[in-house]
Amino acid sequence: MEAGSNKPVQCIGVPREVFPGEKRVATVPEVVEKLIKLGFRVLVETGAGDAANFGDDAYRAAGADIAPDAASLWAGSDIVFKVRAPNAEEIARMREGTALIGFIWPAQNPELMQQLSAKKATVLAIDALPRTLSRAQKMDALTSTAGVSGYRAVIEAANAFGRFFNGQITAAGKVPPAKVFIAGAGVAGLAAIGTAAGLGAIVRANDTRAEVADQVVSLGGEFVKVDYEEEGSGGGGYAKVMSEGFQQAQREMYAKQAREVDIIITTALIPGKPAPRLITAEMVRTMKPGSVIVDMAAEQGGNCELTEPGQAVVKHGVTIIGYTDLASRLSKQSSTLYATNLLRLTEELCKAKDGVIHVNMEDDAIRGLTVVKEGNITWPAPPLKPAAPPPAKPAAMPIAEKKGGHGHGSSGPMPAKNLAIIFAVAALAFWFVGANAPVAFLGHFTVFVLACFIGYMVVWNVTPALHTPLMSVTNAISSIIVIGALVQITPPEAGTGGRPDQLILWLAFVGIVLTAINMFGGFAVTRRMLDMFRK
Ligand code: NAI
Repeated sequence: MEAGSNKPVQCIGVPREVFPGEKRVATVPEVVEKLIKLGFRVLVETGAGDAANFGDDAYRAAGADIAPDAASLWAGSDIVFKVRAPNAEEIARMREGTALIGFIWPAQNPELMQQLSAKKATVLAIDALPRTLSRAQKMDALTSTAGVSGYRAVIEAANAFGRFFNGQITAAGKVPPAKVFIAGAGVAGLAAIGTAAGLGAIVRANDTRAEVADQVVSLGGEFVKVDYEEEGSGGGGYAKVMSEGFQQAQREMYAKQAREVDIIITTALIPGKPAPRLITAEMVRTMKPGSVIVDMAAEQGGNCELTEPGQAVVKHGVTIIGYTDLASRLSKQSSTLYATNLLRLTEELCKAKDGVIHVNMEDDAIRGLTVVKEGNITWPAPPLKPAAPPPAKPAAMPIAEKKGGHGHGSSGPMPAKNLAIIFAVAALAFWFVGANAPVAFLGHFTVFVLACFIGYMVVWNVTPALHTPLMSVTNAISSIIVIGALVQITPPEAGTGGRPDQLILWLAFVGIVLTAINMFGGFAVTRRMLDMFRK
C-alpha cells in the first residue's frame, strides 16, 4: 500500500461531530473508497455518520475501520477531517503533529489558533480557501454549504408559510403565486432564488453588487434596483459598506417590498463586518399576517431587527426564522458535498497517490488555507499575486486575411456579401417558380410562404414560457375550418334544386359542434393560462 514511498501510509480519522445539534459528518462512505484509492487508511468513529444517515456498516463496507470511541479515533489518526472547529476536549485528545482539516474561522478564534499551534499541528482551514482562484472551486466548501443553506432557507419558509408557492387554478378557486423577496444575491441568495422560482413563486432580489443582476434573471428572478447610483462591489466577489444616501434609498425600497411580498429571505453579508440591518421592526409590522422572514445572517447579528438567532419566533403576525444550522438540517446532502470538497483537497495534497500528504506552501490555494504549519501560525496568507494580464489582442487582421477568413469556424454575424448572395438566389428561385408554375399552384404557394413567415415570426418573438398558451390559441384559431362545415350545411339557393345529402348535413352539424368546442374552449384555456403569468 505504500506505493513506492518509504513513509508509512497515513491514517485519516473522522470523528463524530460534538457541537450541539450538528448532524453533518466530514466524510461519507462513497468518498472513503476514493481516499483509500489515494493510498490512505480511513478510521471513522462509531456513530459519526448516524445523524446524516450513514451507518457504521456502510463505512465498513467502503473499507474504513471503525473506532469504538473518540479517544481511540484521535489517538489513531495522522490527519483529522472535521466539520466544526475542535473544542478543548478534542484538542486535548489530538496527537502532536496531527494535520487537521475543517472549518476553523481563524479571525474569530485566536485562542483556538494558539491551542492548535501548541499541539504542533498543521491546520488547513477550509473557510480560508482563496475563493477567487478558479482552480480552487472544487474545494470550496463555503460555496457548497451556502448553496445547501439557501435551498433549505426556502424550504423552511415554505414550511412556515400557509399557502402554495405556485399559482393554481382549481375547481375551488384561483390561488395567486407567492411573492418572495431575496436580499443579497451571493451564493446562498442565488440558490434561494433558483429554489423559490422552481417552486413557482414570483421571485425578486436585490444586491448592492450590480453585476449579479444577470445571474438573478437567469435563475428566474427579477432584479430590483435601488434608486441611487453607487457601485457596491468591494472586490473578490464581496460587497462593501454603502454610503448613508444609498442606505436610505435602499430602506425605502425594502419597505415597499415588505408591504408587497409574502416571504423575505435575507442573506446580505460583508465579510468581517456585522450583517447590515435591512429589515426594520417597522417593515415587519407592515407585512401581511402569515408572512415569513428567513434571516440567514442571524449568526452575524441578523439582517432583520427582530431576528432571534437559532430560533423561529412570531412577531406582528410574521414568522421570523433565524436558524443558524441550515446546512446541518440537510445533513446527508451537505455531508456528501463537503466530503467531496475534502477529497478534492486531499488529491491536491497527495498528488503521488501514496497515502501521504504534502502541504506545498508554494501552491496559492494550499498556502491560502494553511493557517498553522507544524505549529507555526501562518495565517493570514499574503494577498494573492494578481493574475497575469490577458495576452494583448492581436492587432487588427490584415484585410487580405479577413477576406479569406470566413467559413473557418468564425461565429460572428454573417458578412453582408453572403447575405446578398442568399437573397439573390432566393429571388431567382421565386422568379423561376412564378414564371413556370401553373396559376392555381401560385396562389397556394404564396399562401404557404406567407404562412411560414408569419408562423416563424410569431414563434420566435414569443417568450418560450408562453409557447404553451400560444399553441392553445393557435389551436383555437385553427377552428376557422368551421367555415367548411358552414358551407356544407347552408341550404341550396332557390331554384338550384337538389336537397343536400342527409349524411353530409349531419356530418357538417357534428363538425360545427366539435369545432365550436375547440374554438371557445381553446380561447378560454388560453385566457386561464395567461392569467397565471399575470403578476
Ligand atoms: P456571500 O458573501 O456570497 O453573499 C452575501 C451577499 O450579500 C453578497 O452578494 C453581497 O453583495 C450582498 N450584500 C452585502 N451587503 C448588502 C446590502 N447592504 N444589501 C444587499 N446586499 C448586500 O455569502 P453567502 O455565502 O451567500 O452567505 C450568505 C449569508 O448566509 C451569510 O450571512 C452566511 O454567513 C449565511 N449562512 C448562514 C447559514 C445558516 O445556517 N444560517 C449557512 C450558510 C451561510
